Amino acid sequence: MDRSIKIAPSILSANFGRLAEEITAIDAQGADWIHLDVMDGHFVPNITFGAPVIGAVRGASKKVFDCHLMISPVDSFLQGFADAGCDFITVHAEATTHLDRSLQAIRAMGCKAGVSLNPATPPAELEYVMDRIDMVLLMTVNPGFGGQAFIPSVVEKTRKVREMIGDRDIHIEIDGGVTPETAPLVAAAGADVLVAGSAVFKGGTVETQEVYGQNIRAIREAAEAARA
Ligand code: DX5
Ligand code: ZN
Repeated sequence: MDRSIKIAPSILSANFGRLAEEITAIDAQGADWIHLDVMDGHFVPNITFGAPVIGAVRGASKKVFDCHLMISPVDSFLQGFADAGCDFITVHAEATTHLDRSLQAIRAMGCKAGVSLNPATPPAELEYVMDRIDMVLLMTVNPGFGGQAFIPSVVEKTRKVREMIGDRDIHIEIDGGVTPETAPLVAAAGADVLVAGSAVFKGGTVETQEVYGQNIRAIREAAEAARA
């Protein structure tokens, strides 16, 4: 499995009025994956967008569409996200009563399955689903908003999860407060996919998208240096 550092800009920090252009811009500027934060105003205190919007922008990039579902209930919505063209679908362990069933359903739809844990949720939640998942998403903020401060206790959790994974083909993704300053901490602890919203989009627009490129490079270089 490819354990190289992958940067996944979260379009939560993009200009929603120009979403397709923003996705094409981050693709051109070196994003590895496109991270899509779906919020329902129930599991998390914010509302973003759903499967129809993702389907409408799917054509803006050929890169991996990495869908982070912060919704509850989740099962009845999965097919819509698979049909919209998501490659990875990640559900929160805290948001679905039958986690094993949700994960089986995602794979049965032909997608890669991820489990996300909030900062306070222990890694033991993963123990009996390890063979059903392609990714663990560790939240380094409480989900709901971009631009929050990185919660450092998750670095230790990342190390534990890395040990639990062993030689299985499972990515570790980190989401929340990722910057060139925090990326090295989680990269050294075993993470390979780094989500970043504000740290990628800050200072740029579609017109000045080279800024996105510089921001992506700064995070990648800091993370890679921590691994070397
Ligand atoms: C938070 C979302 C994150 C968020 C990250 O609930 O899951 O993906 O957009 O934003 P930053 O990088 O600004 O912390
Ligand atoms: Zn996210």
